[in-house]
Amino acid sequence: MSEIEARLAELERLGLGRRLRLLSGPQGPTVLLEGKPVMLMCSNNYLGLADHPRVREAAADAAMRWGVGAGASRLVSGTMTIHRRLEERLAAFQRSEACLLFGSGYLANIGVIGALAGRGDTVFSDELNHASIVDGCRLSRAEVVVYRHRDVEHLHWCLYHRGRRDGQGRQLVVTDSVFSMDGDVAPLEEIVELAGAAGAQVVVDEAHAIGCLGPDGRGALAEAGLEGEVDVIVGTLGKSLGSYGAYACGSAEMIRYLINTARSLIFSTAPGPPAVAGALAALELLQERPHRVERLRSNSRVLRQALAEEGFPVAELEMQIVPLVVGEEREAMSLCQKALEGGVFAQGIRPPTVPAGTSRLRLTAMASHTPAELRSAARVFGEAARALGLEPADMGPPIVESVQSPTAPMPAEPSMSEARGVMAAAERVSAGAPFDGELEGGAREEQPPAGGSLRPEGAEAPFDFERDHAAARAA
Ligand SMILES: Cc1ncc(COP(=O)(O)O)c(C=O)c1O
Repeated sequence: MSEIEARLAELERLGLGRRLRLLSGPQGPTVLLEGKPVMLMCSNNYLGLADHPRVREAAADAAMRWGVGAGASRLVSGTMTIHRRLEERLAAFQRSEACLLFGSGYLANIGVIGALAGRGDTVFSDELNHASIVDGCRLSRAEVVVYRHRDVEHLHWCLYHRGRRDGQGRQLVVTDSVFSMDGDVAPLEEIVELAGAAGAQVVVDEAHAIGCLGPDGRGALAEAGLEGEVDVIVGTLGKSLGSYGAYACGSAEMIRYLINTARSLIFSTAPGPPAVAGALAALELLQERPHRVERLRSNSRVLRQALAEEGFPVAELEMQIVPLVVGEEREAMSLCQKALEGGVFAQGIRPPTVPAGTSRLRLTAMASHTPAELRSAARVFGEAARALGLEPADMGPPIVESVQSPTAPMPAEPSMSEARGVMAAAERVSAGAPFDGELEGGAREEQPPAGGSLRPEGAEAPFDFERDHAAARAA
């Protein structure tokens, strides 16, 4: 057996094997999943714009006018008029002086963090931050201090006990605004205040908040009245804005600095014109018709209410991300499979994407779902859980085993020791997994981006998707 085979076998043995699932058609509320029509309950196409006719047309038109690829990195010959146009629009949307497009959210986070922190500096990172933040922290070579999830007292303690106080190193606090696996929101006001008092810079990743929260979908910072209060906002084009790519917003000086120092910008090809033009059209739609944001929020309420009626202990929030935390890896996958048999698709999420013992289905509402679809999906999840002998009432928000607190050390429960075993094994077989820092008090991670729509074999043109989609809806 080769080493690779052995690693794969180990993953299977642990219930951590993964495979790609093939979707036909666009990321609509209903898709053909491996030939079967199912309701899609795990896409980040929150506003339903990825397959909006105007977004498609803009991308197709851009391909005809400017071609498909940018051909070079932004700093060589890859900055085209369409990039500049979207940057200007995004800066205005985020009430920032300037904006810089990156190839993806992953690239934006590693580029921004690496530019703002290096050897001798300290980064303070929430323990449930996204993997791209975790990796950005690691690549930066700064000292990384992981504070307990959304725990401002712990952050406060860390800023004054773990950061350099000799005035030599830079300090940076970095957080998701909406946490991608749990749908909860960072205490942004307190973070901004604490960081300001400690002289630390702040980066906020609004990947799951843009288009979902705040006035006109401008994000969690806007919702909290904190526009202009942080050093860098990172947003992606691949979720609510229905495309691919990402951006950083900040002062003109900050953006000039990132252009000069963010390695993932400097050493990577610029995003292609169709993706950029598609995102621009989506942004225009969001601004013209902000009711989509309202629709997403009311759909999120409908989904949460319907799940509560099935006995799932979901919080009464308006967030579009709803975790059903099963716990054990194999049980989460069984629930995923059972729900699929009932015609609803929500991918099971396991370590290292989430902490061991908190495997789950991560449900997402979209503005394009109908309330009736969401209610029927909730019924399917309830029936699927009961058919497997799982109790919906036990699938509450995860109890995260926090990084060891310097102020209040937490003894490891036996069950957590087992969980650590799974996590450690998962890391052995997937070297460099996002969680490996965490076991020594490092940082934690999230899910791989829900992949974009996969083109059906033999499809000739992008709009072949439409036929498949119509078939899925008709079925
Ligand atoms: C919080 C967060 N940041 C960044 C990313 C990465 O964005 P992208 O998919 O554009 O690389 C994701 C993707 O899932 C995310 O959830």
